[in-house]
Amino acid sequence: MPGRLQNKVAIITGAGSGIGLESALLFASEGAHVVLADVNVPAAEKAASLIEKEYGQQLGIQAHARKTDVSKEAEVKALVDFALEKFGRLDVMFNNAGIMHPDDDTALNTEEKIWDLTMNINVKGVWYGSKYAILAMRANKPDVDKGLQTGGSIINVASFVAIMGAGTPQLAYTASKGAVLAMTRELAMTHAREGIRANALCPGPLKTPLLMDFLNTPEKRDRRLVHLPMGRFGEAIEQARAALFLASDDSSYITGTDFLVDGGLSACYTTPLGEQVVPPPVGLASGITSKYGAT
Ligand code: NAI
Repeated sequence: MPGRLQNKVAIITGAGSGIGLESALLFASEGAHVVLADVNVPAAEKAASLIEKEYGQQLGIQAHARKTDVSKEAEVKALVDFALEKFGRLDVMFNNAGIMHPDDDTALNTEEKIWDLTMNINVKGVWYGSKYAILAMRANKPDVDKGLQTGGSIINVASFVAIMGAGTPQLAYTASKGAVLAMTRELAMTHAREGIRANALCPGPLKTPLLMDFLNTPEKRDRRLVHLPMGRFGEAIEQARAALFLASDDSSYITGTDFLVDGGLSACYTTPLGEQVVPPPVGLASGITSKYGAT
């Protein structure tokens, strides 16, 4: 059976860690050629090399790492140009890279430089990624034999904090994610007649470096855990699966959504009591890394 992204070309930003890493692995396992963009070059290169080993020959796909700072327009343009040179098209743009700065705080305490840095990566990065993806996707030619169409799918990572207020302040981050939601809706409307879909993925709190580095004490983690209906943080692979759905033609009639993957957090008044009965899923990265060892 062909994979859900068979013959498609996907760019994933922030692909060296967390959601981006699991998504790059999952997209490749579904038949996509993947371009892994990150400021952390060794992490992106390691991931690309693991993908080549695990899926390259078996599925006939390629994985390439590209050093990209998404807040720099020229680097994002070069990233998309690279995908076009290698593969001649771009079907999926996963604008996933983002930061939550440790000095992000209240309206009173957040410094302008933290605000600007957060906005440059989390908002401008998504704008640049969307801009060059749209230009590339406009040029996509249909290929019926390969199951390829015109247009494409843009997935922008926002957050549940764009929808809910946090009493534990992170003002710049929250504002940046609200901007991603609003921007994505407008992208979806502006380009709907070009066959380009745009959706915002809104993850709940996850067990990835971004949040776990921020919540560096048991007290900080417990302050959040008490609000989570399932009693646990989410896993990167659970976001990757949602991103795969939004990337693939399975979601062909879905555009402009705030796609919440938050374990029920945003629907929660009081959390249920009791033990968690279903264990969280295991991601792809750990299994593949242990199979091939450090590269
Ligand atoms: P992560 O910290 O595990 O991975 C983020 C990756 O982005 C890293 O590899 C990092 O090097 C890269 N990156 C950072 N700045 C970059 C830049 N300027 N250009 C290119 N790459 C850059 O984070 P995680 O958890 O996987 O987060 C991914 C996205 O999900 C982010 O947009 C984040 O805001 C969002 N998110 C995360 C949540 C969580 O609880 N972890 C919750 C809601 C949203």
